This record gives sequence, structure tokens and C-alpha cells, in this order.
Amino acid sequence: MFRRHSNKSELISEINPYSPVAESFRALRTHIQYAQEQPQHVQVITVTSSIPKEGKTTIAVNLAITYARDQKRVLLIDADLHRPRIHHIFDSNPANGLSQILLKECQWGEAIRKTHIPNLHFIVAGTIPKHPAELLSSDHFDELIEELKQHYDIILFDVPPALVLTDAKLVSAKSDGVILVARAEKTKSHMILKTKIQLEQIKNNVLGVVLNQKRERNRLVLNGYY
Ligand SMILES: Nc1ncnc2c1ncn2[C@@H]1O[C@H](COP(=O)(O)OP(=O)(O)O)[C@@H](O)[C@H]1O
Ligand SMILES: [Mg+2]
Repeated sequence: MFRRHSNKSELISEINPYSPVAESFRALRTHIQYAQEQPQHVQVITVTSSIPKEGKTTIAVNLAITYARDQKRVLLIDADLHRPRIHHIFDSNPANGLSQILLKECQWGEAIRKTHIPNLHFIVAGTIPKHPAELLSSDHFDELIEELKQHYDIILFDVPPALVLTDAKLVSAKSDGVILVARAEKTKSHMILKTKIQLEQIKNNVLGVVLNQKRERNRLVLNGYY
């Protein structure tokens, strides 16, 4: 159910782990594991979409909860340095996040925050920088990811829409796999295809397209993958 819980409808998988929605996210997790022809360890995942408001943040948060429930050490990072939202979902201070780490104004250890969900940590976007794409293409970002990989089983990036900003492609290129979210019955198929082609031109690591659907009194439905 897409019911309000802790005032945050996005934390949907947390509400009832036996709900169809929670089951959909477990199926997505399994899909990610077996998406590639030669399954390899997918540790760093970016969740993006073509345009705003298709459900990227919602899917990223719920996928993070799903992995955390599976005893994985999960780090969710808000790499949407334009319209950050993870701090809002977890009612956290928006300052001291990814942009401060990349600007070397703070250490990553100082930016890590815990959630009420065991195994689930997050890093907020931080103060919105002047040139987000420059920060996201820095070598320091590569080093940060390498270091974080030593401490977490799964690192999930929430990013801006890929057709609108270059940021999503920069982060996708640094990830093992990309999940492309589309709003069922809203996102035009040519847009999904265009985004997929653009992402694949950079690194061929699109793991699947998730159709996010709002129906049945706002129930979130993950309507299949390609
Ligand atoms: N399946 C869904 N059913 C109902 N509301 C949804 C669903 N997916 C997303 N939303 C809501 O739509 C809005 C935009 O979703 P969000 O995840 O922030 O999109 P994006 O990160 O792509 O901009 C949010 O208010 C979110 O709670
Ligand atoms: Mg978002």
C-alpha cells in the first residue's frame, strides 16, 4: 500500500515487507543480479530516468531498503545536486553531503548518516554547488567510490534525469549498472529508448527499465523489466 508512514510515502517497502510492492522490489533485486548475460558482481548502481518526476528517488530509496533487509550493508547517495530529496525523505539536515566531500570540505566518514533501518546509511547531496557536473567528473569522485566499496556491499546513486542533465551519465559511467525508471503510460517509449541509447554509448551497463505505475489508490507497481 502507498500509505503514509512516518509521513513519508516513499518508504513504502518498509511498511509491510510482505506486501506486493515489497515483493516487486525483491524481484527487481533478483533481476539486477541476473540481468547480465555473464552475471558479475553488481555493487554500484545508479537509478535514473529520462525526465523529472518519474520515480527515480522513490525506486532508489525502496531498492536500498530492500537490500538492507537482505542483510546487505547499503549506502544510498543523493547525487542529484540540482534537486536533492534524500535528506527530505529521511528528515535529515541537507548540509554536509556529497558536494562537500567532493569539494574536500569534509571527509566521507563525517557525511555518513544512519537511518532507522538497520544496515541502511545515506549521504545527502549537501550544499548545491555551482558546477555539479565538474564535481561528478572529478578523479576524487572515483577515489571516493573505490573507498566506499570497501565498506558497503551495495552503493546506490540517486541522480537527475538523464535526458536533461549530463550528471546522470557521469555517475552511470562510474557504476556497475544502471536502472532506468519510466512512468508507465506517461513516459513516451521513444524517450526511454533515447535515454537508453545515450547511456549505452557511455558504458553498456543498463540493467533494465522499471515501469513505475501509479494506480489502484496510489499503489506503486513495478510493471516489469525489459
Ligand atoms: N508509483 C507511485 N505511486 C504514487 N506516487 C508516486 C509513485 N512514484 C513516485 N511517486 C511520487 O511522485 C513524486 C515524484 O517521484 P520521485 O521519486 O521524486 O521522482 P524523480 O526522482 O524521478 O523526480 C513523489 O512525490 C513520489 O512520492
Ligand atoms: Mg529524484
